[in-house]
Amino acid sequence: MTRPFPDGFVFGAATAAFQIEGAAWTDGRRDSIWDAFCRVPGAVIDGDDGAQACDHYHRYPEDVALMRSLGLDAYRFSISWARVVPDDVAVNPAGLAFYDRLVDSLLEAGIRPWPTLYHWDMPQAREELGGWPARDTAERFVDYALAVHGALGDRLKTWTTFNEPWCSSFLSYTAGAHAPGRRSEADGVAAGHHLLLAHGLAASALKDAGASEVGITLNLAPVRALRPTDPGDLDAARRIDGQFNRFFLDPLFRGSYAEDLRADLAPFGIDEVVHDGDLAVIRDSVDFLGVNYYHGETVAVIPPETEQRQEAPTSRETGSPFPAAAGIHWHPTGAPVTAMNWEVEPHGLTELLERVQRDYTGPAGIPVYVTENGAAFDDAVAADGAVHDADRAAFLESHLGAVLDAVDAGVDVRGYFYWSLLDNFEWAWGYAKRFGLVRVDYATQQRTLKDSALAYRALIAEARAAS
Ligand code: NOJ
Repeated sequence: MTRPFPDGFVFGAATAAFQIEGAAWTDGRRDSIWDAFCRVPGAVIDGDDGAQACDHYHRYPEDVALMRSLGLDAYRFSISWARVVPDDVAVNPAGLAFYDRLVDSLLEAGIRPWPTLYHWDMPQAREELGGWPARDTAERFVDYALAVHGALGDRLKTWTTFNEPWCSSFLSYTAGAHAPGRRSEADGVAAGHHLLLAHGLAASALKDAGASEVGITLNLAPVRALRPTDPGDLDAARRIDGQFNRFFLDPLFRGSYAEDLRADLAPFGIDEVVHDGDLAVIRDSVDFLGVNYYHGETVAVIPPETEQRQEAPTSRETGSPFPAAAGIHWHPTGAPVTAMNWEVEPHGLTELLERVQRDYTGPAGIPVYVTENGAAFDDAVAADGAVHDADRAAFLESHLGAVLDAVDAGVDVRGYFYWSLLDNFEWAWGYAKRFGLVRVDYATQQRTLKDSALAYRALIAEARAAS
């Protein structure tokens, strides 16, 4: 890759606590909603769980050394609420101490820690008190955020409140595909709003406590009508864009839910859960926006010849994550797909970043980071012990090219985090899908740099040499 990156561009990789840490009940940690969900028959492929995962809790020094060997500028990881406040009431110092050790070891290695406070592992005790559909969960999240800031705030500059609140609300409480596996349209709507409220409250509490930058990470996608002049398809695209992208972007950047979305969600209680003053708390509460991008969505009111299922194919019944999507169908575009059956569409990332800048972050003067982008492929270990994952290396390079296209078009993108540093627990798919730059042998916990990791290392070194 010979094109130059902007000065100071951050090259990173990302993980999340439940997906890599293991040590599920060590040092006072108790069940999170994902520990409980993994016990539901048919919820996770092969009955996999997070008990051991990549054993990062014990092997973090080795993992930090791997990051250093790749030349990463930053490491995006998450802090487990269930480790820090295991019973929903008292702070667990032994849980916080793990993150203290991790942050110190990152700083010693010259890697900037990029923590996320919530990547889906709510204490099960909080879920039993109502979870995200309960308004007071937002207050409990602020208490937790301040406890973490109290322990790490002297060394951490950049904080992210939430990872992909669409998944923590609609995918979890409406579709039931993720923990806690509830299936209610109204619960998804309430959860989504309370996540935004929790973000707004926590962002202001963290800033008051001295945090210098607070952001949020959203999973966003370009949503296209299959037939660009068909009114039905255009309306389908409007509805999905509303329930996927605008549900989160509009309150954050405009202080309102759009009228059309509010009308779509009125039957599911949006007017009741939004209280006076909430939107003022949510508005203008980010110093940066994290964007996670995997693929675009093409929708229509006619079915495709073959339905392309992209959610986890567990034996458990899951519903649609969209409360207002009756009659909408998803269509393949013909692009090649990854092992998740996700279409490889680098240009979709450029399109998305341009839209986000034009409609939201640009007018607000807020920078963007691509906080996740990556691919699962069916990696094979070659006779020489290496993983020759040319497909992943090509994915990485083409998507970094798409980021540069967005930069050329004037988008203020300041960094890119590959998902994921390590092969790990891919939620309802268990360990069956491998996204890592680093292969993990789960039986021995041996780590091996894949060819894609070597390609990323070379690319980072080249970008630095050119700047
Ligand atoms: C989104 C999530 O943030 C992450 O946890 C997940 O593993 C990847 N995307 C891949 O699905």
